[in-house]
Amino acid sequence: MNTLNFIDRFHIWRKKIKWNRQYRNGKWDYLKTEKEAPRYAKISEIIKTYSQEKPHVLDLGSGEGVLRMVLDPLDLGYFYGVDFSKVSIEKALQNKFKNADFQVADLHYYTPAQDFDTIVFNEAFYYINTTVKAKVVNRILSKLKKDGILITSIFGEGTGCWEYFDIPELEQIEFSKVDSKNGNTSWKIGVYRKT
Ligand SMILES: C[S@@+](CC[C@H](N)C(=O)[O-])C[C@H]1O[C@@H](n2cnc3c(N)ncnc32)[C@H](O)[C@@H]1O
Repeated sequence: MNTLNFIDRFHIWRKKIKWNRQYRNGKWDYLKTEKEAPRYAKISEIIKTYSQEKPHVLDLGSGEGVLRMVLDPLDLGYFYGVDFSKVSIEKALQNKFKNADFQVADLHYYTPAQDFDTIVFNEAFYYINTTVKAKVVNRILSKLKKDGILITSIFGEGTGCWEYFDIPELEQIEFSKVDSKNGNTSWKIGVYRKT
């Protein structure tokens, strides 16, 4: 089964309302703190190391665009952030980032309108309903250029997630563990090249 039923769609709608409330209340402001900084720094380094020069980057579940904040605009061709929380996207837009756009869209249904050199799931993939995870990966990969880079960050073990990237269309080129500044959390970051 790889479609969302009425109950699934209802739960996704409820979660979206919750995310909007949490962004409004500042619950996710901590993503901009030093504690989380090593994860963004690692993703930034990965983009520099493996992406083509001045890549067009798609950030799926971008929230307020914290990743865009840490990327050096000189290393970036274009940045596109997508999140189903309207509140987070409004916050992202307030930054008026150069060469960047943001869109409110649900990853369960979203198909990028253009091709990208680099696509990022930064602490967002595990929110996708299990019944359609493979379908979402497939859809997103159709918009990743050949030899393009897919980067996935997942905190803890990432059970029920990593297997979706173990597919013939992707070659794993790096897999690393990053610790938070205070050592209380760690993330695993997988880097894949589209074959
Ligand atoms: C933990 S936050 C990470 C935000 C951002 N990637 C970062 O690391 O700064 C997870 C984000 O995923 C978004 N999200 C969750 N489910 C989503 C969905 N179905 N479609 C789009 N965005 C989603 C949330 O709104 C939230 O902004």
